[in-house]
Amino acid sequence: MKPAILVARAIFPDILTYLSAHFEVESNQDDVVFSPEELMQRLKGKVGALTTSSARISRELLQQLPDLKMVANMAVGYDNFDLAAMTECGVLASNTPDVLNETTADFGWALMMAAARRITESEHWLRDGQWNKWRYDYFLGADLHGSTLGIIGMGRIGQAIARRSTGFNMRVIYHNRSRLSPEQEAYANNAQYASKEEVLRQADHLMLILPYSAASHHTIGAAELAMMKPTATLINLARGGIVDDVALIAALRDKRIAAAGLDVFENEPKFHPDFLSLSNVVLTPHIASASEATRRAMAKCAADNLIAGLSGQTPPNLLKLF
Ligand code: GLV
Ligand code: GLV
Repeated sequence: MKPAILVARAIFPDILTYLSAHFEVESNQDDVVFSPEELMQRLKGKVGALTTSSARISRELLQQLPDLKMVANMAVGYDNFDLAAMTECGVLASNTPDVLNETTADFGWALMMAAARRITESEHWLRDGQWNKWRYDYFLGADLHGSTLGIIGMGRIGQAIARRSTGFNMRVIYHNRSRLSPEQEAYANNAQYASKEEVLRQADHLMLILPYSAASHHTIGAAELAMMKPTATLINLARGGIVDDVALIAALRDKRIAAAGLDVFENEPKFHPDFLSLSNVVLTPHIASASEATRRAMAKCAADNLIAGLSGQTPPNLLKLF
């Protein structure tokens, strides 16, 4: 008999077919979001799982699943994994890096431009029949060209975002756990390393694209927002929890920063309802990697990791504690 796996959320049907050549697949094409208890029940007797960020792989869960050998996350971020517990329990973990870098970088720019130039806000006015109220100072926004782009989290996605700024003649400053090599800095539009505070003070547009962890929780709170320019735009492309959403709402409401573009939220898919009453924020439902080609590549990547890991090979994107 083929080993049994769970594909925890709906996925491209051809990926299920692909996996079925190797495994007995339990799928969830109705896309029910399992409770932790339900997830545990479904995983009983399975050796592997293909998950998304909505599946929390906790120590409590693992303790009840002695058969589980591997979980492949269809995302680059893996803050839904307790990697220490997985390592202790001998459960392999993988993510889907690289295949989404360029698509996610594109979306960072889409959010930054939409927030800075007030695209969704002005569209709402147009749809609302208000165009006849036009005046010279209607929807004045901030320029991107010639401005300073600040990036916190200069991994592969951050570098791809920076590289795109060459055409806009922007200066790039960044903060990261470690400094990039001179070659990487050159690639990233000659990005200059700076302290987090300097990035906050100097950025006209601030892009957050660092992994979420206990250490990066509320990287941006009231104190950090207070350092930013009142004309600045903030983009969170990384994870909810990187930003203190309550502090951000206050800053946007009091115009302590000009605008924000958010693809991720604390407690998503729930989010703070006060965002909805603010006109200076662009809100998207965690879709930065959602191009047709890239989501297919992510699904294939997760499936290939699972196939490798469960057949005794090293998964190409094996996650390790460091
Ligand atoms: C999306 O947020 C991902 O981590 O891939
Ligand atoms: C983004 O989520 C990254 O890890 O670069």
